[in-house]
Amino acid sequence: MANDFSITPWKVEGTVDYDVFLKDSGISRIDDQLKTRIAKYTGASHFMIRREIYYAHRDLNWLLDQYEKGNPFYIFTGRGPSGGMTIGHLMPFVLAQWLQEKFGVDVYIQMSDEEKYLSKKDPNVTLEDIHKIGYENMLDIVSLGFKQSKTKVFFDTDNAKTLYKNAVRVAKHITFSTVKDAFGFGNDMNIGLIFYTSMQAAPAFLKSVEEHKNVPCLVPLAIDQDVHLRLARDVAPKLGYYKPALIHSKFLPGLDGSSKMSSSDKNNTIYLTDTEEEVRVKINRALTGQQATAELQKKYGGNPDKCVVCQYYKYFFEPDDKKLNGIFEAERNGSMLAGEHKKHLAETINAFLKKHRQKKEIYRKKIDKYIVVD
Ligand code: TRP
Repeated sequence: MANDFSITPWKVEGTVDYDVFLKDSGISRIDDQLKTRIAKYTGASHFMIRREIYYAHRDLNWLLDQYEKGNPFYIFTGRGPSGGMTIGHLMPFVLAQWLQEKFGVDVYIQMSDEEKYLSKKDPNVTLEDIHKIGYENMLDIVSLGFKQSKTKVFFDTDNAKTLYKNAVRVAKHITFSTVKDAFGFGNDMNIGLIFYTSMQAAPAFLKSVEEHKNVPCLVPLAIDQDVHLRLARDVAPKLGYYKPALIHSKFLPGLDGSSKMSSSDKNNTIYLTDTEEEVRVKINRALTGQQATAELQKKYGGNPDKCVVCQYYKYFFEPDDKKLNGIFEAERNGSMLAGEHKKHLAETINAFLKKHRQKKEIYRKKIDKYIVVD
């Protein structure tokens, strides 16, 4: 039976079945045993792992074996600067920052400006425009609390020497037909985007190149990026490097309950630049799992799994499991009505955004120390 959803790095359509995706892609689930194993090093698992938002992996057990043998890993993830950042876009970086703190490891952050330049249909958008957007995105990312001495941020177009050199070595092992199959490219695809996947592969072994020894790499990513890293995993051993290990997240749902906050529908997402009023209006329109009227809601209760307000707490805004259970229970038993529920979420989001913007201005002054240019 054909899936009624499709996922590529540039577009997600339909309602994603996260289990089917794993099966089709040969990705493993993070089971309870692995959750416990991670918690052994970190005190407690991150709430996104506990709640199976980060729910899948490739070779995470191998990575932890290496760690136990005294061979620590580094983290690599990235951002394609297509526009302003949303709450959903922060998710890989929230996990990366936490891993950096808990394991004391280095983080490499790739800003794939050329990727977004090449994939934008609008002919008026210049590479310089994308670079500017990327600069603001990078500030949003680093402001999550990345440690300066252990973090490198690099723009692809500013790192021709190291990145390009290594991307070329990857490219030699990837054929046109492999890329066509992997990404579903037609013959009208520009050649930049055909080459691009080798740019996203290179940082997965960059530290090994720099240190002249094999260093394990862990990549936190949303499931739509798996295909790039799968190619990286195919090629890395051919160049003499370890395959990168991966840890995959689901998508933060759109405010209308769809599988992914699409960046093309600005009202279906919360941007880090949204005003307090914009947040209130957007959250007010969000789908809840509630009954048609307050009377019915009080009588029958609602469904937290279908309620976007509940899901936003689960995915991002309520790390405390006890408090989250309380919110879910109030939705289920009908004691919390939609208006109150939404008002509280909008306040929580606005408080987060306010603090985030304050941190961003502090990081703006020291951001140059994070950026690598060669
Ligand atoms: N391609 C990603 C995007 O469109 C950005 C990215 C670059 C990335 N390097 C990465 C994502 C490594 C995950 C891991 O946003």
